[in-house]
Amino acid sequence: MYRTHTCGELRIENAGQTVTLSGWVDASRDFGGMTFMDLRDRYGITQIVFNMDSDAALCEEARKLGREYVIRVTGEVRERSAKNLKRLTGEIEILAKNLEVLNAAKVPPFTITEDTDGGDDLRMKYRYLDIRRHSVQSKIIFRSVLGLETRKYLSGHGFIEIETPFLIKSTPEGARDFVVPSRLNPGQFYALPQSPQTFKQILMVAGMDKYFQIVKCFRDEDLRADRQPEFTQIDCEMSFVHREDILQTFEGLIHHLFLSMLEVDLGAFPRMSYDEAMQRYGVDKPDLRFGMPIHELNEKAKGKGFSIFDQAAYIGALVLSGEADHYSNKEIKELTEWVQRPQIGAKGLIYVKCLEDGSFKSSVDKFYGAEDLRAWADFTGAKPGDILFILSGEQDKTPKQLGELRLELGRKHFLIQAGDFKPLWVLDFPLLEWDEEAGRFFAMHHPFTSPKTGDIEKMASDDRAVLAGIRADAYDLVINGTEIGGGSIRIHDRGLQSKNFSLLGFTPEQAQDQFGFLLNAFEFGAPPHGGIAFGFDRLCAVMQGQTSIRDYIAFPKNNMGRDMMIDAPSAIDDKQLKELGVNVVKSE
Ligand code: AMO
Repeated sequence: MYRTHTCGELRIENAGQTVTLSGWVDASRDFGGMTFMDLRDRYGITQIVFNMDSDAALCEEARKLGREYVIRVTGEVRERSAKNLKRLTGEIEILAKNLEVLNAAKVPPFTITEDTDGGDDLRMKYRYLDIRRHSVQSKIIFRSVLGLETRKYLSGHGFIEIETPFLIKSTPEGARDFVVPSRLNPGQFYALPQSPQTFKQILMVAGMDKYFQIVKCFRDEDLRADRQPEFTQIDCEMSFVHREDILQTFEGLIHHLFLSMLEVDLGAFPRMSYDEAMQRYGVDKPDLRFGMPIHELNEKAKGKGFSIFDQAAYIGALVLSGEADHYSNKEIKELTEWVQRPQIGAKGLIYVKCLEDGSFKSSVDKFYGAEDLRAWADFTGAKPGDILFILSGEQDKTPKQLGELRLELGRKHFLIQAGDFKPLWVLDFPLLEWDEEAGRFFAMHHPFTSPKTGDIEKMASDDRAVLAGIRADAYDLVINGTEIGGGSIRIHDRGLQSKNFSLLGFTPEQAQDQFGFLLNAFEFGAPPHGGIAFGFDRLCAVMQGQTSIRDYIAFPKNNMGRDMMIDAPSAIDDKQLKELGVNVVKSE
């Protein structure tokens, strides 16, 4: 028998029992007469004691063991004299009677403790060592339980889990596809799905009514902390539903997950239109853990001879509470440089300090008197002691820059409390988004999203502004400023779907060629339907207050899309290429 107990299991009640444990040597401390060893497995750490007096040979043997050796120890559980109450097993230790090395280990390239990890690439190369760390293990376990709770909720609400294929057809819309050559069809390629979108809609046409799948999706896009080339969605679709049915059902899911996993009651989720989110927070995924909305100042600030404001299409302000007195010129200069970085792209930053004595100090004192500045303070709700930060510039860019500045101020001034969760439904996204470079519209969500019923007739217009104003029946779930999920009510009518494809620049032939299967299915009795998909990795990370999704994925890719452990992607040999009918032009 390898073990009678795990390394996280024994307590003071077990004192006196003879037990066998197996695990990895975490650390050992040699005190001459005694050697103490921490034995680790997934469940915890138990202290083992080897005593020179009771068994000198065994003690000698124990001293030879290096870190990460895999061993089996048999001994007696006894109460510790110096207890470690931080550890669940900290009241006991095992007095070793027998020791067996199950496998030796080389010295690991980084120490497997919580605070040393050797840097990202090394961690990823030796991911199996990294995963031995409790902090990584606990994230992977969290994910597993979250998946179980998701399945429990959805199957309890009548959803059927159905697998959809991974080898599908490449479509030009959305992100780039990963493609797979077909040996049996030389010169032809499958694509890995960016999501099961069309399949889940087909399942609705097939009458499955409520579908879900916890499913891998593949997108060849630039990577960030919250983006991986292969990631997982909780993908869902329902028939005979309006938007409200979907919001209620999935608010219920998220509510259940927070309650069961974290004992956090999120309450009813607030809702906000896309337009309001952009106006008030400069972003379609506002972080509502702190206030500080944007105030448009156009009317109040123009026409006083300050040419920068007079020439700007948009002027907007943020109010930072209680910081006017301590904000130094140096800090203002640093913040100005921050907004001028190319990633943000603002030209400059104007400030107005509302001083405690009711007076003002600003970088535009030359142009605006106390009355003007008081009007700004009244309009934005700034009180004595507050400071206003103002950006001006183009109509579409400036609110986004203010949105970035807001987040920076939130971080800088610790306006976000750890453990706080602020969900938000963002509704009524535009259907179409104009791409200047491509000279055409793209679907803001995806081409299968329905316009709002009242906006359908606008689709007949050839006025770009009218088309850009069409609202979609699309919604996102945002938690703490992260887009956790997105979905929509779908088009289920062939004519309307064809019209949407034409607005997206598809000829009828191209639409038929790429999406004929869906258009055809719509002719055989497609029910009204809609759905949503949640980023499962992102949900895990946000629930645990993390910004990176990597540790929730057992084997993630690095920023170059590489798996450092197996060293992929890699070249394949010429024979294999030939068999696949693929010609590769090799670069020098
Ligand atoms: P969407 O493209 O918005 O919608 O994706 C849904 C959610 O998936 C997560 N996500 C990602 N997570 C990690 N890495 C990525 N590269 C990545 N890309 C997206 C986000 C996002 O909100 N088929 C539609 C859903 C629908 O309409 O039902 C879809 O895929 O959290």
